Amino acid sequence: MTDVGYGPRTPAWAALRQLSTKFDSISLRSLFESDPDRGTRLSHEVHGLFVDFSRQRLDNCVLEELFTLADQTGVQAEIRKMFDGERVNVTEDRAALHVALRSPTERELLLDGSDVMPLVEAERRRIGRLCGELKAGRLKGHTGRCISDVVNVGIGGSDLGPQMTAVALAEFVDPNVSLHFVSNVDGVGMTHVLREVNPETTLFVICSKSFTTLETLTNAEIARSWLLEHGGSSAVARQVVAVSTNHEAMDAFGIDSENRFDIWDWVGGRYSVWSAVGLSLALGIGRENFEKFLSGANEMDEHFQSAPIRENLPILLALIGIWNRNFLGAETHAVLPYDDHLRLLPAYLQQLEMESNGKSVRRRGEPVQCETCPVIWGEPGSNAQHSFYQLLHQGTSKVSIDFLLSARSGVDRQAQQDLAAANCLAQAWSLAEGDPQEQAASPHEVYPGDRPNTLILFPQLDPETLGKIVALYEHKVFVQGIVWDINSFDQWGVQLGKRLAEQLTGEGALDSAPAAIAAAAEKLRVWRNG
Ligand code: F6P
Repeated sequence: MTDVGYGPRTPAWAALRQLSTKFDSISLRSLFESDPDRGTRLSHEVHGLFVDFSRQRLDNCVLEELFTLADQTGVQAEIRKMFDGERVNVTEDRAALHVALRSPTERELLLDGSDVMPLVEAERRRIGRLCGELKAGRLKGHTGRCISDVVNVGIGGSDLGPQMTAVALAEFVDPNVSLHFVSNVDGVGMTHVLREVNPETTLFVICSKSFTTLETLTNAEIARSWLLEHGGSSAVARQVVAVSTNHEAMDAFGIDSENRFDIWDWVGGRYSVWSAVGLSLALGIGRENFEKFLSGANEMDEHFQSAPIRENLPILLALIGIWNRNFLGAETHAVLPYDDHLRLLPAYLQQLEMESNGKSVRRRGEPVQCETCPVIWGEPGSNAQHSFYQLLHQGTSKVSIDFLLSARSGVDRQAQQDLAAANCLAQAWSLAEGDPQEQAASPHEVYPGDRPNTLILFPQLDPETLGKIVALYEHKVFVQGIVWDINSFDQWGVQLGKRLAEQLTGEGALDSAPAAIAAAAEKLRVWRNG
């Protein structure tokens, strides 16, 4: 294995290491003083997203070296490979063609020589048809009453994708349809939902790419028993649809062939919201809005493929993330949206980024020689100011930040959104520039500043904009994976826990627990049995 093109072994990496030493003593305040145009120069507007990198701790020399790093790691060639359907998911020998899911259907996208777009188009049509039926009041439960509640049963990408987007686009959801999401295995979520919904008017969407996931199958069984109890097998036949690659398992579960939606092994779970995994979202916001969501993402795909590196938003976001992580030592990255609609975005990005790039081995298996994905966390902005911003301003951990802000209120409360905007900008500014020591009455009032932050601003949160934002982050993750030589599309790290949980499941399983958990298992056994 040659190291040509591996980030930490490139000349650009060494140059960046050298440059980073001087940034210990260069403040953002001084960077703005010596370069007042920095704000304009380091901001980019692409398809209605305005991304302002000016409060990042870098200058032109750093940026130039980051662009060289992208060249030396072959970022653009790897992007081409992904869009060309090559098997970029090398450990699972699969393509990662989620971009096909939002591509116009008239454009060919070849996988192993055959066009995947007819498959995509067929499922898109079926999603559209079901949305139309629901909207027209023709989607009925077993007693002939119209469906009014849709319960998505899934976990990971099969939950976070539709749920985050449904919350983000709440203003676009048909008021006659209530969306619910059940994911955890402990039964709480399903119990709460079943208390709210009516067995005559509820549709369950069982979302599981593999259709083997314990949490989802457990909750799906509960849903099925509930329907059987209240409406018999016709309720199950009419009111359960499923989305999966695994037809045998859907068969075994008893999902009617009419009620099955396909996804494909070339779509990763955390990249799947654009497929029928987004069915609950589509049923909520309707076919047209779902298509707008797809076309927003497609615009970002086009930009990602064609824009030169220095203007390419996902590449810039990725490279600046690498600068913060690998050269300025930021161990965590906070996502702080100033629009409550995006309150689940941090959770969504936790899966997208950490499941994709939280890895210590390179694509061919050698250990990595640099830090990889930072811990991703966050909360909606104004809330978070009253909880953890103290640490952002004065704590000892190095954190990089993305702020997201919509200019216009999505709920017709512009004066309130203006307050959110003022708070967001004030935080971006104060975290960057701080308040110098000489102005402080006591050490407790010193704000050191130099907390690097990026602002992603958009006119209003609508389906297209959300599509662009999600695709922006997907591609950021891919680019970082290229530089770190990580396969961003597998997730081997989740397997061990699943296997061991199986060993601890069932009658008497806790009796022979290994030493590492023996004490807790014993206490659990005693307390559980009352
Ligand atoms: O355990 C991790 C994971 O495989 C995720 O990658 C995925 O989104 C989730 O589980 C759910 O998987 P499935 O859609 O196959 O049920």
